[in-house]
Amino acid sequence: MESDPKAAPQAVTVAGQRIDSQPVDAPLTRAAIFLVVTLNASKETRATLRSFCGDLPALLRAVGFRDLEANLSCVMGFGSEAWDRLFGAPRPAELHTFREIRAGARHAVSTPGDLLFHIRAKRMDLCFELATQIMARIADAVTPVDEVQGFRFFDDRDLLGFVDGTENPSGQAVLDAVIIGPEDAAFAGGSYVIIQKYLHDMAGWNALPTETQERIIGRQKLSDIELDDSVKPTSAHSALTTIVENGKEIKILRDNMPFGRPGYSEFGTYFIGYSRSPRTIELMLENMFIGRPPGNYDRILDFSRAVTGNLFFVPSATFLDNLADDDPAAQAPDGASAPAPVETSPVSQSENDGSLGIGSLKGEKSHE
Ligand code: HEM
Repeated sequence: MESDPKAAPQAVTVAGQRIDSQPVDAPLTRAAIFLVVTLNASKETRATLRSFCGDLPALLRAVGFRDLEANLSCVMGFGSEAWDRLFGAPRPAELHTFREIRAGARHAVSTPGDLLFHIRAKRMDLCFELATQIMARIADAVTPVDEVQGFRFFDDRDLLGFVDGTENPSGQAVLDAVIIGPEDAAFAGGSYVIIQKYLHDMAGWNALPTETQERIIGRQKLSDIELDDSVKPTSAHSALTTIVENGKEIKILRDNMPFGRPGYSEFGTYFIGYSRSPRTIELMLENMFIGRPPGNYDRILDFSRAVTGNLFFVPSATFLDNLADDDPAAQAPDGASAPAPVETSPVSQSENDGSLGIGSLKGEKSHE
């Protein structure tokens, strides 16, 4: 799914008005940072965050312009309680706290998390710089609860050794799968995202014969070819995560990334799935953890443990962009402009402002 970094943002039209989406469909990249934070209790938190939302495109332009070919993008998501605190009513129709699932030894945990930053680029240094600039702006208002740096591993394989992402939709099918339309018109152009950080028992997994691993995943390991239905078990991962409604397969968009620390025997997969309705991913999780039918669960889970679990709503870029303008409480108390980003490099902010809208976030504002 390569795309032109200068391409126009994805957009929907509602009542004649153009609504730009955040770049949920950004191309697969070599590097990513997944940053989850909670909101602090202080009374300035709301104003700081609302003002920051309007400024994020300018930060993205400044960092992204340093290497246009590197496709820097950032998607910002909001948890259910954070939504109420920052924006109140109306609420996205299907936003709720991630629902944990317990079945036997398997546990899809629900963990704290108010904001998600999904930062992607071909270069980790750009992701790192953007995360640094974001935290410089909001550090007083938030507490980090999880931060993972993900990397591409050989032929887009996960650390279990299988190619991950093959069955992702492409082209128009991506937008149909992930971007909210008229079903929740006030939030058209938005999306839902579920994340789970999994840790693998690599010794246990590697002790399995390759054929057993292939039956667990539902695909051949080397060639990535799907197993024939005559040999693919109904408990295969790719079978349990296939959701068909009214004869039509309901797709989601995944951008999983391996991560880890070999020195600490930590080997993981950061699952991230975007979807027009969280229900699709929730159904997949029920199939994986409880089983379809119950008991016929996903054997990946015998070798993988979820240590985080969150659901976020990803509002449209237009929604975020409008925030700084429409809430007087979000302005700095003395009417001063937003604080300047931290200087972490010799390239100044002013050299880059007014540049292209990298990462598809609409950003006509200048905040120097
Ligand atoms: C331990 C974590 C996970 C690993 C290592 C993993 C790995 C894989 C692999 C190797 C494939 C086959 C290639 C592909 O089509 O991408 C796959 C497919 C898929 N996975 Fe996962 N996955 C994980 C968790 C999840 C979760 C939590 C969900 C959703 C709740 C999910 C949803 C899917 C879907 C929808 C497919 C495509 C199925 C198809 O249409 O054939 N995965 N995954």
